[in-house]
Amino acid sequence: MSIIDQIVDRISTRLANLRADDQPIGWAMDVHSHLLAGVDDGLSTHEEVLTCLNQFVHWGIQHIVTTPHINRSRFPNTRTSLLAGQAALRKLIEHYKLPLTIDVAAEYMVDDLFLELLKDGQLLSFGRQRYVLIELGWEAPPVFLDTVLFQMQIKGYQPVLAHPERYTYYAGNEKTLAKMRDLGCLFQINWGSFVGQYGSAAKKQAHFLMRKRWVDFVGSDLHSPSDLTLFDTFIHSPIYRQLSQLPLRNKTFLVDGTPPQPNPSATAVRP
Ligand SMILES: [Fe+2]
Repeated sequence: MSIIDQIVDRISTRLANLRADDQPIGWAMDVHSHLLAGVDDGLSTHEEVLTCLNQFVHWGIQHIVTTPHINRSRFPNTRTSLLAGQAALRKLIEHYKLPLTIDVAAEYMVDDLFLELLKDGQLLSFGRQRYVLIELGWEAPPVFLDTVLFQMQIKGYQPVLAHPERYTYYAGNEKTLAKMRDLGCLFQINWGSFVGQYGSAAKKQAHFLMRKRWVDFVGSDLHSPSDLTLFDTFIHSPIYRQLSQLPLRNKTFLVDGTPPQPNPSATAVRP
């Protein structure tokens, strides 16, 4: 058995443990994940990448924007290195004929490195709207956040705050969240937050944001194949069906954005 056959065989065994009644997901693109092997705290091997990509395909995802971390302290990834990773990932997808397209952007910590890249107009964005995914520190938001949101838009970027439900300092802070939205910041909520992946407080806040209809994007924020089982629970939950009713930008991105078109003759590696 070749190495490739062995990988496919292992993927098949893992996916067999997931539910057999997968239904197409209510949105065709995922906007937040850590699929580039070895560049951050996400996936580590090509085997893991293939396992996750196959499951996305079986959920009906057609386009992925994967978003490795870029921050000064832990993952000072560069635009050049991530775009090289994008080329390698696209080759992998082509090799396995997955019916999927993929772009690489980033999840930027709002730190001094981010400010330098913003000043130079060197941010990795996605879509025609030049969406840029940002994250904040866990202890407190930067005091200059309002200015950053303003400067991003002056530079032609559309800020998207990753998982606002996970920041404890925003819990129940409706006024601040409303102000951020007024300043032009979109919100991306994690799939797992709705089913308790990050604890009860984040789950409560995710549901609050959904009731307010302050959900512009949803994203998997996938870091590991072990996340897939919980995501499958999410996709088969009532909250998933409610979310699918919202005017998520995930739904319109393939029309409004600029992803490459998938090869219609391509097929996934079948479990
Ligand atoms: Fe992330």
